Amino acid sequence: DEVFGKYKVRSLALAEAGRHQIRLAEHEMPGLMALREEFGAAQPLRGARIAGSLHMTVQTAVLIETLVALGAQVRWASCNIFSTQDEAAAAVVVGPHGTPADPQGVPVFAWKGESLEEYWDCTEQILLWPGEEGPNLILDDGGDATMLVHLGLQYERAGIVPPDTLPGEPDHTHEMNVVRGVLRRALESDPLRWTGIAQQLGGVTEETTTGVHRLYHLAESGELLFPAINVNDSVTKSKFDNKYGIRHSLPDGINRATDILIGGKVAFVAGYGDVGKGAAEAFRGQGARVIVSEVDPICALQAAMDGFQVARLEDVVGEADFFITTTGNKDVVRVEHMLAMKDKAVVGNIGHFDNEIDMAGLEAVPGIVKTEIKPQVHEWTLPAGDGRAERSIIVLSEGRLLNLGNATGHPSFVMSNSFANQVIGQLELFADMARPAEERQYERQVYRLPKVLDEKVARLHLDALGVRLTELSPAQADYIGVPVQGPYKPEHYRY
Ligand code: NAI
Repeated sequence: DEVFGKYKVRSLALAEAGRHQIRLAEHEMPGLMALREEFGAAQPLRGARIAGSLHMTVQTAVLIETLVALGAQVRWASCNIFSTQDEAAAAVVVGPHGTPADPQGVPVFAWKGESLEEYWDCTEQILLWPGEEGPNLILDDGGDATMLVHLGLQYERAGIVPPDTLPGEPDHTHEMNVVRGVLRRALESDPLRWTGIAQQLGGVTEETTTGVHRLYHLAESGELLFPAINVNDSVTKSKFDNKYGIRHSLPDGINRATDILIGGKVAFVAGYGDVGKGAAEAFRGQGARVIVSEVDPICALQAAMDGFQVARLEDVVGEADFFITTTGNKDVVRVEHMLAMKDKAVVGNIGHFDNEIDMAGLEAVPGIVKTEIKPQVHEWTLPAGDGRAERSIIVLSEGRLLNLGNATGHPSFVMSNSFANQVIGQLELFADMARPAEERQYERQVYRLPKVLDEKVARLHLDALGVRLTELSPAQADYIGVPVQGPYKPEHYRY
């Protein structure tokens, strides 16, 4: 269903189903609900116009409605072509008090199974607000909305019409062509569009490791246009969502996609950062033998100490039944690896972008046949030859993050931690924007939230789990040199 410029989702008829799920999710998201309780009356986000680009799931619906409850206006798109839950998108458009015939919620531009062209059109839609005003804040996951503004402004300032292709562009070539197409059309309709949008933007809060890498890169080169809060590196985000969230949603994705028994099999996990740790633990929990690969000696040693075999992919490629990439890096599983895998091996990625597995290379293998088993599950059959029988591998979500493509992403409770950080980040930036320029705390740099706020997010989730904290006596606090109320750890502590 679509009303141009107002929303574009699969079908508003799904709203009731979405609303039921949102209601249950609210019960599992005590952090977000506590922030509604704390700030609802004061409306600290009144005047905030937030452009959100983050997987349009049920949990994100609770985030969006929390921002609205705090006074914000919001427009939303997903940050992945496969990750939208259509019923959640519909429910957000309809809103808690509207009906499909009279939607009263938030403009959402997202559906499961977008093309890349549609994806970037949707990303553009969240940055185009009716009337004169544009967004004054971005809430990003992976940095695509932030990138569109930066790239658009670059072309506009240089007075260059974005070209169709750029010589020598190594990866994501097709996708970058699509992005430049969007920018070209924008320039044709309004030559100062990005200047106008960029002028109003007061900051971004970024959800994930990959998006944070992009932000630090922009800040280092002096190109960052506004302050950024790195939500990912709140302890209550990366040490929870990336690890425990993955521990839940990776097997969820594999099971919904394949229903192949994990126990007793061999699972290969590329990367042993936060996501890799959760992935390896999930496989072990199911009774698989897990092999990890790493480039970082510290993480490799951690994996070994945790009891995992650490090896190079090429040395074990014929052994494993599952291959999962968690590196945030590119070209990790390459064609030569896929050609050497066992018959019916399952290959998937759970890192942010789709360049960890060389899908373009796989497609180009002579004689290869792609069969859709069901949406987001494909069997790639390699013809017999070189003394080998015909064999196939199963690729999940076309190499895009499988926990959101094949399942519904992380569960609510862990996302309540991540999204409480998001809301606090938005509150911080918006409050700072209201200060006179000389009193502002945030410059065009990347910041983490202060540790007291990180600890606050954790506190908001203790009661629901029946956790009773021990309290420091003043003498104890004095002895270890921390305030009774925290923060309890120095900045360099690693948890
Ligand atoms: P991280 O930086 O903690 O871990 C990545 C690890 O991969 C590092 O230890 C690094 O040394 C290793 N690595 C890099 N290149 C490698 C290679 N060629 N072979 C083997 N290991 C290699 O990052 P984190 O937080 O674990 O995130 C990983 C990715 O997952 C990012 O793209 C992030 O945005 C994404 N992510 C996805 C989520 C999801 O729901 N699917 C949730 C959270 C993060």
